[in-house]
Amino acid sequence: MSSINEIHFDEIDSTSSYIKRNFDSLKDFTFVSSSFQSAGRGRQKRKWLARKGENLLFSFLLKEDKMINRYCDLSILSSYCIYKTLLERFSISSMFKWPNDIYIDSKKISGILLETHDNLNVIDGLIIGIGINVNQNEFEDDLIFPATSIKKIINSDVNIEKFKKVLFRNIIDEFTRFDKEDDYKEHIYFANDCNYLKNKKVYAIISGKKELVEIVKINDDCSLKVLLNGKEYNLLSGEITFHHE
Ligand code: BTN
Repeated sequence: MSSINEIHFDEIDSTSSYIKRNFDSLKDFTFVSSSFQSAGRGRQKRKWLARKGENLLFSFLLKEDKMINRYCDLSILSSYCIYKTLLERFSISSMFKWPNDIYIDSKKISGILLETHDNLNVIDGLIIGIGINVNQNEFEDDLIFPATSIKKIINSDVNIEKFKKVLFRNIIDEFTRFDKEDDYKEHIYFANDCNYLKNKKVYAIISGKKELVEIVKINDDCSLKVLLNGKEYNLLSGEITFHHE
C-alpha cells in the first residue's frame, strides 16, 4: 500500500492557493491540509469560513494528463469518497447535490472547489479543494446554504486526524481504481442513488433563457438531465443556478 504524501499547516491562507503557488515543486497526488484558513475560498468567488481546529480543510493535486482531462468525473468521484467515508466511519447516509456538494438533512456538510492550473494556456494540473464541517457546532445564520457538521449529526466529537487518514486513503484507492478500470462507474451510481436534487425544480439557463426545470438524473458523462415542458435537456454545471422553487 503506497504511503500518503501530505503537508499539514496549523494556519495558511488557503490550501488550494498554497498548491497553486508551489505547483512546480509539488508531486502528483500531494495532499495539503490546514487546521485553519485565513482566506478559504468557495465556489463562485464565495468565501469558505471554518472555525480554527474544528473542521477538515484540504486540497490535493493531480498532475497526470489522463486524470486532469476527466475533471467532471473527478468532481463527482471526490464527493463519492466523502460519502463513502461518512458511511464507513459514522454510519451517516449523506446525499449528493450535483455538481459537487454533500448534504445531510437538507443542510450542506461539505463543499468542493475544483480548479485547473495551466502553463502557457495548457492545463497541466487539477487542484481539488475540500472543506468538511466536522466538529463545528454553530454556523452563521445568513449562509446561502444552511450548514451542518458531523458532530451535529452524531452528537459527539470526532477525531479529525483519524477521519482525515481514512478519507485520504479512500480518495487514493477510488481515484486509482477510476484511473485503471475502464468501466468504473461507482461515482455515477452513487450520484443517482443519493441524488439530492432528484425531481426538484431549479432554475437553469436553456438557450440563453432562465427557465424553471425539473431534475431527472445525472448522466454517465456527468451532465445533468432536466425536463422542461416535456422535453429533456442535458446541462453542464455552469448552466444552472440552485434556487429551488
Ligand atoms: C464550495 O463553495 O462549496 C467549495 C468550498 C471548498 C472549500 C475548501 S476548504 C479547503 C480548500 N481551500 C480553499 O480555499 N477552499 C477549499
